[in-house]
Amino acid sequence: MKFFLDTADTDKIRDLYSTGLVDGVTTNPSLIAKSGKDFFETLREISSFVDGPISAEVTSTSLDGMIKEGEKLSKIGKNIVIKLPLTEDGLKASNFFYTKKISTNVTLCFSPAQALIAAKSHATYISPFVGRLDDIGENGMDLIKKIKTIYDNYPELQTKILVASIRNLDHVIESAIIGADVVTIPPNVLEMLYDHPLTKKGLEAFLNDWKSTNQSIL
Ligand code: G3P
Repeated sequence: MKFFLDTADTDKIRDLYSTGLVDGVTTNPSLIAKSGKDFFETLREISSFVDGPISAEVTSTSLDGMIKEGEKLSKIGKNIVIKLPLTEDGLKASNFFYTKKISTNVTLCFSPAQALIAAKSHATYISPFVGRLDDIGENGMDLIKKIKTIYDNYPELQTKILVASIRNLDHVIESAIIGADVVTIPPNVLEMLYDHPLTKKGLEAFLNDWKSTNQSIL
């Protein structure tokens, strides 16, 4: 399973990229606004050190506008993935970029039907938002299970499942159990993956015992 980082914070991406855990990056207009930085500069900076796919979202809602914006964004680097909203024009844009061999990430997916039609429009990735479904009392991971079943039933559907709106470790682990292709993880959740109270406690005990020996490795 691939891990993407769901952030536009370039310092965080640099820092966590060095763990070797990060296979790509996803951004969205809200994350760009939160970073307070220029959209194009941010994408250029990320693509200067991240080899894997980097999702950059269009902000136009018309087909013509999405195509123009997507074409401009795709010039930033070969690994830029054009993120499109799951609307009728977004699906048309997905199909258009497929014919141009430009990768796409169809976002804001909340139902199996939406995931099915995104795959039929040749989206490279579909982004179902699990956390936002949980927020309204639904079960986000049930959606991932359904999409996985549908895509497995029809091998001609080549779209990869990119689980988004991840809020906790269960979302990551459940995605791995179901067999999702990618999880896009906010930095705080990625950090939770290696933080364990028993690891912390065990390390403290080892270091205290080591100190009592009055030895030094260096
Ligand atoms: O990038 C899209 C998605 O991951 C957003 O997550 O936390 O805003 O629901 P969230």
